[in-house]
Amino acid sequence: MAPIIQIREMAEHIGAEVTLQGWLYAKTNKGRLQFLQVRDGSGLCQAVVFKKNVSEEDFAAAKELTQESSLRVTGKVVANERSPGIPGGYELDSTSLEVVQVADEYPIQPKEHGVEFLMKNRHLWIRSSRQWAVLRVRATVIRALRDWLDSHGFLNMDTPILTPAAAEGTTTLFEIDFHGEPAYLAQTGQLYNEANIFAFGKVYCFGPTFRAEKSKTRRHLQEFWMLEPEIAFCNLEQLMEIEEEMISYVIQRCLTENAEELKVLERDTASLQRVMAPFPRIHYDEAVAMINAAAEAGELVPGYDDPVPAMPWGEDFGSPHETYIAAQFDKPVFVHHYPTQIKAFYMEPEPGRAEVCRSVDLLAPEGYGEITGGSERMSDPEKLIAAIQAHNLPMEPYEWYVDLRKYGSVVHSGFGLGIERTVSWICGIGHLREAIAFPRMLQSMRP
Ligand code: 4AD
Ligand code: MG
Repeated sequence: MAPIIQIREMAEHIGAEVTLQGWLYAKTNKGRLQFLQVRDGSGLCQAVVFKKNVSEEDFAAAKELTQESSLRVTGKVVANERSPGIPGGYELDSTSLEVVQVADEYPIQPKEHGVEFLMKNRHLWIRSSRQWAVLRVRATVIRALRDWLDSHGFLNMDTPILTPAAAEGTTTLFEIDFHGEPAYLAQTGQLYNEANIFAFGKVYCFGPTFRAEKSKTRRHLQEFWMLEPEIAFCNLEQLMEIEEEMISYVIQRCLTENAEELKVLERDTASLQRVMAPFPRIHYDEAVAMINAAAEAGELVPGYDDPVPAMPWGEDFGSPHETYIAAQFDKPVFVHHYPTQIKAFYMEPEPGRAEVCRSVDLLAPEGYGEITGGSERMSDPEKLIAAIQAHNLPMEPYEWYVDLRKYGSVVHSGFGLGIERTVSWICGIGHLREAIAFPRMLQSMRP
């Protein structure tokens, strides 16, 4: 019996007889020749069914195959430069065919469908080659992030999803009933990781996080996955060095491991190739000055027809501002020292200039926006208590968090990287909904 192999492994089996098992993606009927495009999860390959090389029943079965029918096909692996596929260059010269199931008429046809229809059929849409490519890049991003952290002395810690308190503002909380007591789905694992560093030094958590975002945007999901490293004895400058090293590594891994997927996505990879540490750094003050100078000069937001809007110092950037700033550099850019009033309560104020804090966001090129957000954390217990009070947060659920500042407090920092934003950027897709298999968005959680 021929060995069952994956399409990805075909290069190692040239000339040998193998069996592929998968689904029919498309078919071309040329009379005595049937060209079956078979996908198996690892790739896509053309199986050539020539009437004279298979039994009569098998040839008839090939003719009856509908889109997405499941099948096993056996044949000889042939190297053929012009053969289409993912990866291209190989085809199967079929000798036999086994139909597992003839599929019902498939709703997603090889034509343009509206996004609403595709989202409703997300459980099927993920089989399409573009969606498949994006989700494979996502898996590489996660694998590469973990590899980098695991090989740089970070310990993976799992932080709770059910939490008694807000960490990233009270306006985006998903409240649930914890046996009569209000609880919230985690917006971040950060606060628990701050406890973890005092036991383990350098840690990270990776998991789903939840934000009841009230507005519809292409950059916000209700449920997204965040990777959060946290480091003891680390200041803001050292944090930026960790971020740029880690992100450069991840991008380069995707370029090598997902070359085929990026081809499917027709991603221009030149800008990704430039993603190598160090990244440029600018102060928030400088960013605001750049934006206002551009607004004054009537410059347009790159990629849009709208002028760059002016902004007052002290506010957060809108998406056009981020796009404009990012376009001034040929790599991702760090913007640091945001105004304290627009950032979370736990961020360390800049000594001698308390209106800005030791925070940093990383903006991706090409308008993909904020990929990471992080900061140096407040390490003085008295200052932290004052900040919790100033943000009108209840003291009781944060008492343990203040404790961390009493028993060997040290300067420490961390950041969170949004997986879907990173994947969207790498894949060059406009909306976060395609960067996760089953997105949860405002007013839509089906399937
Ligand atoms: O900037 P954020 O809110 O930072 C934190 O949650 C910190 N506690 C992280 C830390 O320091 N450990 O979120 C971090 C990142 C953002 O930069 C963005 O990439 C992503 O998470 N993000 C979202 N992604 C999708 N949908 C949303 N609603 C998101 N909100 C934030
Ligand atoms: Mg942020």
